[in-house]
Amino acid sequence: MEWTKEQRYRSMDDVSEEEIQGLTKLVHQCPWRQAFHIQPVTGLLNDPNGFSYFNGEYHLFYQWFPLGPVHGLKHWYHTKSKDLVHWEEVGMGIMPSNEFDSHGAYSGSGIEHDGKLYLLYTGNTRDEQWNRHPYQCLAVMSPDGSIVKMDAPVIADVPSGFTDHFRDPKVWKQGDHFYAVIGAQRENETGTVVLYRSCDLKNWQFAGEVKTGLGEDFGYMWECPDYFELDEQGVLLFSPQGLQVEGDHYQNIYQSGYVIGSPIDLETIELKHGAFHELDRGFDFYAPQTTVDPEGRRILVGWMGLPEIDYPTDKNGWAHCLTLPRELSVREGKLIQQPVTELELLRGKKVENSQTVVNEHVALKDFEGDMYELLVEFSDFTAEEFGLELRVGEDEKTVIKYDAVEKKVVFDRTQSGEAFAEEFGTVRKCTLDAETISFRIFVDVSSVEVFVNDGEEVFTGRIFPGENSNGIRMFARGGQTEVTAVKWEIKEGQR
Ligand code: FRU
Repeated sequence: MEWTKEQRYRSMDDVSEEEIQGLTKLVHQCPWRQAFHIQPVTGLLNDPNGFSYFNGEYHLFYQWFPLGPVHGLKHWYHTKSKDLVHWEEVGMGIMPSNEFDSHGAYSGSGIEHDGKLYLLYTGNTRDEQWNRHPYQCLAVMSPDGSIVKMDAPVIADVPSGFTDHFRDPKVWKQGDHFYAVIGAQRENETGTVVLYRSCDLKNWQFAGEVKTGLGEDFGYMWECPDYFELDEQGVLLFSPQGLQVEGDHYQNIYQSGYVIGSPIDLETIELKHGAFHELDRGFDFYAPQTTVDPEGRRILVGWMGLPEIDYPTDKNGWAHCLTLPRELSVREGKLIQQPVTELELLRGKKVENSQTVVNEHVALKDFEGDMYELLVEFSDFTAEEFGLELRVGEDEKTVIKYDAVEKKVVFDRTQSGEAFAEEFGTVRKCTLDAETISFRIFVDVSSVEVFVNDGEEVFTGRIFPGENSNGIRMFARGGQTEVTAVKWEIKEGQR
């Protein structure tokens, strides 16, 4: 179905309860609804927004087009949680409603100030010629959960030198000031990030462009920037568009990753850093956002999806979900990502197995399912390649393996089930040289997240297998490997 402009930009005020009920019914008929990931009640979810800890709870909003699996008039949908695992669907967070966000309440972030949660976001507008005019807007959430939008934008103009691709403010506090990075495009159509400074979150001064070592040759737009300091290092995270494929790198339509180095100099706005690293080496990951919690943990959530790609759930009126929350740390100049420990709350019935696998495929006794956590460790290997197959059915399998000759981890969804996004390839690889290989894997009904060697690399991907494709097998080719495996069912009664 083609969606017209009118359909994409309808106000929710004009949508009847009946229509929502019809859409909700269609969504619930989908065989690929997730069990323990944040997913849209109806319609399309994209970026995580306003991720914060406030008033005793984690708050996590998402970009939301309620009416179907397409990008249209964006709202913020609000979810909250006490433990980062069980999320309550609160409802509409920010609704586009005025001349400063008429074509979407776009991405932004949250910060506590004076007992309230300040939500800074981009108001997207279009004029009659369909030219964009972005505004940076503010909404304030009280402890009772009510959200009030300010009447006027807090940043009304794009500074000279930049185009109208100017959005996604991410705010933090340092010393007596608030700072915000905003994703931008220079007039010469190259991507960058700019910095603003404020004393009160309402009055903002443009400080300048963040000077990175990436110059003017790193994509045409940087979306969803984030800056934080961890382990005395400065980390700038962003989602560049327009990078060319380079070997195993930049295989997806758009990328997201980070540079890490000395903390940013807030006077000269210079960030000295090393190479750009992709955060996730899988297929479906974009526009991540972080927050810091009361324990001082830096936690990241991403959009498990990408723009401009059709997904098999579209026919049921919904698309995408968020990733599980990951705790970040720094090891040898690289970010390490581990699932937050609270995810152990999901662990139900446990099964274990250890054995030597020699030139064979073995189905492990009692190992199967479509929703589980699985920890597999391979050691003492002589095999040329080894790994495991998940969601195995008659003609389906999802393969996660180590190629010991090329020294690469491989995630292969060529035969995972209903095909999609094939023009971007169905295999992802990443170099890793180690003597033991461990995969900690979270399988939900239509997704796989693989944390390799305690979070040194992560591969995330949606898969759409048949209902009966529930097998799990281990294999080794060209030699043998020791394998130990532990699997936990996801506890009953998850969403
Ligand atoms: C990233 C993005 C943001 C924008 C939002 C709109 O996926 O394009 O730059 O604010 O999505 O939904």
